[in-house]
Amino acid sequence: MTATANADREADFERTIEHHDRIEPRDWMPEKYRATVIRQVAQHAHSEIIGMQPEGNWITRAPSLRRKAILLAKVQDEAGHGLYLYSACETLGVSRGELTDKLISGKQKYSSIFNYPTLSYADVGTIGWLVDGAAICNQVPLCRTSYGPYGRAMIRVCKEESFHQRQGYELLMTMMSGTDEQRAMVQESVDRFWWPALMMFGPPDADSPNTAQSMAWGIKRDTNDDLRQKFVDMSVPQAEALGVTLPDPELAWNEERGHHDFGQPDWDEFAAVVSGSGPCNAQRIAHRKRAHDEGAWVREAALAFAAKGTDL
Ligand SMILES: [Fe+2]
Ligand SMILES: [Fe+2]
Repeated sequence: MTATANADREADFERTIEHHDRIEPRDWMPEKYRATVIRQVAQHAHSEIIGMQPEGNWITRAPSLRRKAILLAKVQDEAGHGLYLYSACETLGVSRGELTDKLISGKQKYSSIFNYPTLSYADVGTIGWLVDGAAICNQVPLCRTSYGPYGRAMIRVCKEESFHQRQGYELLMTMMSGTDEQRAMVQESVDRFWWPALMMFGPPDADSPNTAQSMAWGIKRDTNDDLRQKFVDMSVPQAEALGVTLPDPELAWNEERGHHDFGQPDWDEFAAVVSGSGPCNAQRIAHRKRAHDEGAWVREAALAFAAKGTDL
């Protein structure tokens, strides 16, 4: 390709980004853009799939048939989110098999939140309220992300995430109008999940090496700190309506800023969990590996069937 053609396609790419239009799979893109989108979408897909485990833990012990049906549907939704996102990632030239290998070998990450255990049924409600709530804050701006297949997947995912958040809140509301023991279960659960939920937005902007480039390319639309602030502002009145206390003594309305002030999560704990030393990291990956290994015969059979080229 000539130097002029090279310059043309780069200019096309820059123009698309500038106009907030979408980059599509067949468009030319810088290699670093491709790698950054793959990293972000893969990490997101892995989070959806690993995120099935903490809640899946309670499916067999749901307190009623209704709660069981709701939880089953919710966990299945997360599997669906993983599938849309792996498909979006495949449009960039990586296979789902490669992505799964990278997850299992620890070369690609998933959200730190899923390395915490679920210790009571109240955790199902808290995860819906806070974890899916934080996911919505993160993901609504991603509906406008510059990579087309990712943005379109997010539009569908966000609709389901907002349903997830409501079901979690409704479960907690039901428990809060129950017995003292149930109210105590909810408070204990919120105490454990509040800080890890704040960590879901990633490190403070000053320590987030990829943010500036990702924003310049329109892959990311808001900074970690802005999204965290939005989440805190959204959660405080919801906690009040629920009747739970958020475990942060520094939490206070700041009239001047028009936002809540709040304390910082333990960033050393975050670094440890991200690097593999969280309470459930080893368990989550071992479980994912077991499921993948046990599914090998299904993948082989599907390929053999496809190779025969016959219809069912
Ligand atoms: Fe999801
Ligand atoms: Fe969800």
